[in-house]
Amino acid sequence: MYATAFLDLPALSGASGAVLLPGSKSISNRVLLLSALCEGTTTVHDLLDSDDTRVMLAALRQLGCGVAQDGTTVTITGLGGRLQKTQALEFFMGNAGTAMRPLTAALAVMGGDFTLKGVPRMHERPIGDLVDALRLLGCHIDYLGNEGYPPLRIREPNLVLEAPIQVRGDVSSQFLTALLMALPLAAEQRAITIDVVGELISKPYIEITLKLLARYGIAVQREGWSRFVIPAGSHYRSPGSIHVEADASSASYFIALGALADGQGITVQGVGVDSIQGDIRFVEAAQLMGAQVSSGPNTLHIQRGAWPLKGIDLDCNHIPDAAMTLAVMALYADSPTTLRNIASWRVKETDRIAAMATECRKLGATVEEGPDWLRIHPLPAGAWRAASIHTYDDHRVAMCFSLAAFNADQVPVRIEDPKCVAKTFPDYFEALFSVAQAHTVPVICIDGPTASGKGTLAARLAHTLGYHYLDSGALYRLTGLAATRAGLPLDASAEPAIADLARTLPVRFQGEQVWLGTDDVSEAIRTEEAGMNASRVSALPAVRTALVALQHRFRQLPGLLADGRDMGTVIFPDAPLKVFLTASAAKRAERRHKQLISKGFSVTLDSLRADLEARDARDLSRSVAPLKPAQEALSLDNSELSIEASVDQVLAWWQRTQPF
Ligand code: DC
Repeated sequence: MYATAFLDLPALSGASGAVLLPGSKSISNRVLLLSALCEGTTTVHDLLDSDDTRVMLAALRQLGCGVAQDGTTVTITGLGGRLQKTQALEFFMGNAGTAMRPLTAALAVMGGDFTLKGVPRMHERPIGDLVDALRLLGCHIDYLGNEGYPPLRIREPNLVLEAPIQVRGDVSSQFLTALLMALPLAAEQRAITIDVVGELISKPYIEITLKLLARYGIAVQREGWSRFVIPAGSHYRSPGSIHVEADASSASYFIALGALADGQGITVQGVGVDSIQGDIRFVEAAQLMGAQVSSGPNTLHIQRGAWPLKGIDLDCNHIPDAAMTLAVMALYADSPTTLRNIASWRVKETDRIAAMATECRKLGATVEEGPDWLRIHPLPAGAWRAASIHTYDDHRVAMCFSLAAFNADQVPVRIEDPKCVAKTFPDYFEALFSVAQAHTVPVICIDGPTASGKGTLAARLAHTLGYHYLDSGALYRLTGLAATRAGLPLDASAEPAIADLARTLPVRFQGEQVWLGTDDVSEAIRTEEAGMNASRVSALPAVRTALVALQHRFRQLPGLLADGRDMGTVIFPDAPLKVFLTASAAKRAERRHKQLISKGFSVTLDSLRADLEARDARDLSRSVAPLKPAQEALSLDNSELSIEASVDQVLAWWQRTQPF
């Protein structure tokens, strides 16, 4: 997951390959609650691990459910419709509508002393229609803040089950879903009827609810979409084990990607067109715009068809979430696209109609909007603007706008607060980068004399920007270590053999750890001796050549921080920013001294300084890859600067190269 303040996507040129998508949010949270309400133990496979499911799992634990987690498999021991804990409980629902609404209903029917609250946005998302329906049933619910909105306080109910319960269907289908999942708890003795008032929106989500209820032993009878009857004698039964399909809404970004990007096409694994999720019908909308889609069991393959895409005019009520993706696809079309019947967008994680309109306009598009519709005009080549996309703590806004990076003008796109995708798809950007290709992956090179702090600076910058990090010195250290272990002399007599080792180094970087084959060599390559050996092998031209391809392989999306001797001169000469970091020999000796002392080595400052000066002289004068700044390198003397100040300076230089 990218937890950076922003993530810059360089212009993307194509995409091909396969992605395995995380589990569906809607199915995951329903299955968790149903497993908690029934008797017995349910093993849930391929559960989504995201903010919203974590909120639900935490609530179930609070209620006394058994929850055992092993990766994406979770085993839930249900409550059997009865609460074991009766003390007052307070639940934090974050911004998870799929947890807030159904839990409210289930807790209100079971009774107790509960408070449910969430993030500020959750307190602006309506729940009044659900509360009204539950009150008709005799549930005891009070508003703690604004009338009609969370937070809520729930007490013991006094259930009256005679008359049909009425619920509005035109604000959020989650109200009906919540009732359908809670009321079987009260339907042991008599049937319960729910009447939907007004047009029911988002029917496909109700279908998911009904299909899952059936898996848990509840056969709801329905008359059209206006009356639902939970038969008398209904009783939750665990299916024993259940698989969660991949998220069809998450699939929409990759379906769009396949339609937009030049390449061999995109394969989506984990969901196919026979999915129970309504958003799978996004496939049809994408086909209308030109995508070529084929489906197998639990897979989809998408390829670019019509290009440019075709503008469409579509009622999107059946695919409320996935339809956001159409708004960005519309930028690549040959005529305007109108998305209709999307009033529910206004009460989602953010006002999505306003958000999509505002951000599309930032890219240069003409957008018209109404209370329940949105019209996006295409953006022709020459009209795209580089934009910093605000994401409103809305995962879908962030994921949608990543698709703008395929624009014809090759302008980059900045996604603010990229971690908001954690709501449903924590590794979205990793998945995107695993199949996308960029026109040019940006590289920032940091070079400088030994102990100037370039490693620390480069690593911090990589962390801030979400970029990969190449510690090229480590590759020479690894080569020196591998050669020593192979019993080779570290001089020209063994040059071809050491070069062979370097070419096939089985190296793996994992956070702070460095692996050579199956050995963790993180410590071994950091000794003074390893540094000396690295210096020796790095003077052999064949070894340097052998490491070129390996170093180039680090240049991956979204970008690279490359630290080392010849990064800006030989390895990445086209890097848009090169920094030459220096500090006085006295300062560098002081820093290295502190470092070594803290590791328990006894060295004197004077000897270190003499060593450094000798190494500088050797590095400057050596014929192979001498220490010298790249011609266009910006020089930074950090003798008197804190690490933070150095990072800020380089970030400021980097920002100057950006069009945002
Ligand atoms: O930065 P470091 O101390 O880990 O580097 C180890 C040695 O490798 C040092 O003598 C410089 C050399 N080196 C090199 O020649 N070329 C690089 N790109 C990186 C390091």
